[in-house]
Amino acid sequence: MVRFSWPSSPRAVSRTSAARQFGARGVCVDIDPARIAESRENARQANVIDRIRFLNEDLLLTDLGDATVVTLFLSPELNLAVRPKLQRELKRGSRIVSHWHHMGDWKPQETLRVRGDGRESPIYLWTVRDR
Ligand SMILES: C[S@@+](CC[C@H](N)C(=O)[O-])C[C@H]1O[C@@H](n2cnc3c(N)ncnc32)[C@H](O)[C@@H]1O
Repeated sequence: MVRFSWPSSPRAVSRTSAARQFGARGVCVDIDPARIAESRENARQANVIDRIRFLNEDLLLTDLGDATVVTLFLSPELNLAVRPKLQRELKRGSRIVSHWHHMGDWKPQETLRVRGDGRESPIYLWTVRDR
């Protein structure tokens, strides 16, 4: 069973799809309660509310040990701040997908450009190889 975590997003269609189509369970983390409320509503509308746990807290304090896929849409600074935690806590083979922002000199194994909301943006993929 795939587990995934992410900061909440009103545009999180792909994330709710993962729960709906593949039976994934998710943990949604955001420090802003308004984002958590939006995500809860998105999940309710997508009929996956029972598959997602919502945490209104600082991502840097969240236990990531159970996640096998982590999706991020943060900021350049926060990506760099969370990078050592991801490398420390995630199991080997876990995947990280980041929208917009890379992780400094941690080279992504794949970069895609996706179109949404009338603009194009990068998506980066890493797989945790070693601790
Ligand atoms: C670039 S916005 C993404 C907005 C939203 N995900 C969307 O799709 O519109 C970054 C998000 O990260 C959240 N955030 C910032 N610092 C955080 C932290 N330390 N822990 C958890 N979430 C944080 C913000 O509240 C905001 O919702």
